[in-house]
Amino acid sequence: MRVLGLETSCDETGIALYDSDGGLLAHRVYSQIALHAEYGGVVPELASRDHIRKARPLIQEVMTEAGLTLKDLDGIAYTSGPGLVGALLVGACMGRSLAWGLDIPAIGVHHMEGHLLAPMLEDNPPAFPFIALLVSGGHTQLVQVDGIGRYSLLGESLDDAAGEAFDKAAKMMGLPYPGGPALSKLADSGDATRFKFPRPMTDRPGLDFSFSGLKTFTRTKILECAVDGVLAEQDKADIAAGFQAAVVDTLAIKCKRAMQQTGINRLIIAGGVGANRNLRDKLRATAEALKGAVYYPRPELCTDNGAMIAYAGTQRLLAGEQSDLAVSVVPRWPMTSLQPVDGVSHG
Ligand code: KG4
Ligand code: ZN
Repeated sequence: MRVLGLETSCDETGIALYDSDGGLLAHRVYSQIALHAEYGGVVPELASRDHIRKARPLIQEVMTEAGLTLKDLDGIAYTSGPGLVGALLVGACMGRSLAWGLDIPAIGVHHMEGHLLAPMLEDNPPAFPFIALLVSGGHTQLVQVDGIGRYSLLGESLDDAAGEAFDKAAKMMGLPYPGGPALSKLADSGDATRFKFPRPMTDRPGLDFSFSGLKTFTRTKILECAVDGVLAEQDKADIAAGFQAAVVDTLAIKCKRAMQQTGINRLIIAGGVGANRNLRDKLRATAEALKGAVYYPRPELCTDNGAMIAYAGTQRLLAGEQSDLAVSVVPRWPMTSLQPVDGVSHG
C-alpha cells in the first residue's frame, strides 16, 4: 500500500510517500523557521498561509522523486491533531480533498502517534512493548507502548514541555528561535558543572516532570553574571551547558525509573528534543545499564516530518480504518484515547 503523508500541524510542511512493501520512498520537509524567527516564535496565521504555499509543490517533488503519479496512491494520511487549528486545516483539507478526488481512503493521524512510531522507519525497529519518551516543543511524556494504539501514559510534564523549556531559556540568553538546537550548540563550549542547576522532581517518587523551575534558575544565573545587562560568551555557554545537563539528567532519571517500574528495557526517544546528542548518549547509557537498548529515528525524522504521518496512517489504513468525508481536526487530543490497531499490535 502506497500512502502519501501530509504534516502541517505547526511550522514545518512535511510531505512523504511510504510504501508498506518498499518503505520510505521519498520525503521532503520545508521549515518555516526563517519566516517566524523575527517574531521569536510561531505566528499561527503566517504558518497556515505558508503551508498553503508549500504543500502542493512539495507533493509534486515527492511524487517525481519516487517516479510515481497521484494515480499510484492507495491512501492519504494527514495530521489531524493536536496542533494549531489553522495549520492543521490546511493539511486536512488538502489530504481529504485529494483522497476524495482520487477515490482512495484518507486517514487523520495523531501527530504524537506519528512521532512515537517514527523509530519504526529505521532498520532494526524495536519490538513491542517498549517505553517511549516523547519530547517535543509541546509535549513531554513517558508512555508505555504495548502495540499501535495501545498507549498508557506513565508520566508527563506538569508545566513546560522540554522543548519549550529549551526555547524559553535560549530566548533569555538572546539566542535565535528555535532555541533548542542553538542552546545545545552553545552548551558544547560550556562547563556543565559550574552552576548547580536543580534536577526537578527527581527526589520524590513518580514519573511526572516539571521544567518551569529551570527557567527561573536560568534567569537568576543570567542576572547574577550579566554586567550592564550583557553576558560574557563563556558565562552564556556555562549556563547553557548547566541547563542542558539538568534537562538531560532529569529525563534520564525518569526513563530509568519507568523501565525499572515496568520491567521493560527497550526505550525509544521521539520528538524534536530527541535530536539532542547529549540526550541520546545519556539515554543509551541508561538503557544499556539496564541490559536494554535505546532506539531513535535519524535526526530529520525526530523533528516534524511527513514520513512519520505516512507510516502511522499506513498502519491504520491497512487495519481497515479510515476517516469519513468531513474535514475535521482536533487541536487538543489525548493520545490514550486512540483505538488499538489489531493485527500489527504485537510486533
Ligand atoms: O517535535 P518538534 O519538531 O515539534 C513539535 O511537535 O513541537 O519539536 C520541536 C522542539 C523545539 O522546542 C526545539 O527547540 C526542540 O524540539 N529541539 C531541540 C533540538 N532540536 C530541536 N532541543 C534540544 N536540542 C536539540 N538538538
Ligand atoms: Zn512534533
